[in-house]
Amino acid sequence: MSVRQTATVQTCYARLSGTGHFLPATTLTNAELEQRVDTTDSWIRERTGIQTRHIASTDESVVTMGTEAAKRALDAAGLGAADLDLIVMATTSADRAFPSAACEVQHALGVTDIPAFDVAAACSGFIFALSVAEKYIISGAAKHVLVIGSDTLSRLCRPDDRNTIVLFGDGAGAAVLSAADSPGILSTHIYSAGEFASLLGADHPNRDDEALQQEAWLYMRGREVFKVAVEKLASLVEDTLSFHDMTAQELDWLIPHQANFRIIQATAKKLGLPLEQVVMTLAETGNTSAASVPIALDWAIRDGRIQRGQTLLLEAFGGGFAWGSALIRY
Ligand code: ACO
Repeated sequence: MSVRQTATVQTCYARLSGTGHFLPATTLTNAELEQRVDTTDSWIRERTGIQTRHIASTDESVVTMGTEAAKRALDAAGLGAADLDLIVMATTSADRAFPSAACEVQHALGVTDIPAFDVAAACSGFIFALSVAEKYIISGAAKHVLVIGSDTLSRLCRPDDRNTIVLFGDGAGAAVLSAADSPGILSTHIYSAGEFASLLGADHPNRDDEALQQEAWLYMRGREVFKVAVEKLASLVEDTLSFHDMTAQELDWLIPHQANFRIIQATAKKLGLPLEQVVMTLAETGNTSAASVPIALDWAIRDGRIQRGQTLLLEAFGGGFAWGSALIRY
């Protein structure tokens, strides 16, 4: 059972009014990783498609990156922070357990007395946050909602673990959703399956136990994650299109979570969509977790590939497992 937008007669829609992203200036290339762990540039390229990634410096965090991405999204929407009714932030790597990263971003943006909260769904966080934000708008409870995906997963990877350190980068992406009388977000579909927790996760490193602290790094059984991801994403995109009686030919762009080129390729193949219609930032960003989809979205909007009126399919899969899609008329 998934959570979906119901197909009742709708009078209010949520429209993407602006997007933005932020990537730290510091990069970490495959060649540099060759010096740190037993890996090669060709292994990383062939197995993942990643060439480099951006790494947050000590004075950067999910909050500072999220705030920058948010400012760019607000600028693009022609709005100020004072126009916002709600902030929903997707992250699983905030420096603090609380206050929420969303509250810290709210403060950094100079607004107060509007709700701000975090959503935790790992790499699918942005899609889950978008789904929540959309419900506030279509119910009439909010007019403008800021949705952010921001993560520093590079910090959760054990520095000598070649299985994970080559995959993850840091960054943030944001979108402003605004009430409109035409779509907008056509539907969101979100799913979770907690029984897969042993395949992918990261424990809180601040537990009062030294042994646990040593093991508080991101763990991943990559091959098994890969298999489930390909399977779930295939049925996800099929379900999303059949919910609207649509075919993949009606899509202009697929904007997938940037985890692995081979997973993206498998999903595009399932849809029968040529790779020219798939937005990929993977080579430059690696897997930025909750930031990955909004970074790719904003990237292709800013370089002019995505145009107003086009139909976009956003999808993501990650820890939880949690996975989801958003079908959008941009
Ligand atoms: N460099 C060189 N060799 C490596 C490296 C590395 N960085 N990492 C692993 N290897 C080795 C393995 O040890 C293994 O060696 P062995 O055969 O001697 O045991 C060999 O390469 C093959 O390993 P596999 O894990 O089978 O390689 P695979 O082709 O599956 O690729 C990868 C690994 C890239 C991790 C892939 O499985 C993958 O992308 N999985 C999905 C990850 C994902 O999508 N995560 C998304 C969610 S993340 C989130 O939610 C936070």
